[in-house]
Amino acid sequence: MQEIITKSEKETMQIAKNIASKAKIGDVIVLNGELGAGKTKFTEGFLSYYDLQDEISSPTFTIVNEYKNEKINIYHFDVYRLSDVSEFYAIGGEEYFAKGICIIEWGEIIKEALPKEYIKININKDKNDDNCRIIQIEYMR
Ligand SMILES: Nc1ncnc2c1ncn2[C@@H]1O[C@H](COP(=O)(O)OP(=O)(O)OP(=O)(O)O)[C@@H](O)[C@H]1O
Ligand SMILES: [Mg+2]
Repeated sequence: MQEIITKSEKETMQIAKNIASKAKIGDVIVLNGELGAGKTKFTEGFLSYYDLQDEISSPTFTIVNEYKNEKINIYHFDVYRLSDVSEFYAIGGEEYFAKGICIIEWGEIIKEALPKEYIKININKDKNDDNCRIIQIEYMR
């Protein structure tokens, strides 16, 4: 496991860009962390590597938002509102995994549906510093 401390949202976005530069179709990235931890900021940084979006919001009324260009499809999930994994299966969530890169906020909720290999990222707030985050990156296999 790799641990990185960021001191601003820009730094968190830069970490996400680095991960995006190594990502490939079929990768699943799970983002865990409390409300306001920076999961959506991380996603914004990731998308910016592909020139896909400057400003994004979490999918609120849908569970998944799709971003695409000639090179890549990126699916941004926020599964916070799903009560359990059966709802993820019901929307055909797993069918997205092979089609592009999936980024799943609150992915722990649907752990059972995740592929065997995925990238787990935990973002933790620092109680003493509002702009500081502890980011843990782990390649699960
Ligand atoms: N080091 C940092 N990294 C990321 N975000 C930071 C950092 N410092 C401060 N922030 C702020 O924290 C907030 C993170 O919000 P964001 O929407 O990304 O959180 P979230 O984890 O997606 O929350 P939710 O669970 O509600 O979807 C932003 O307002 C951002 O500016
Ligand atoms: Mg969010």
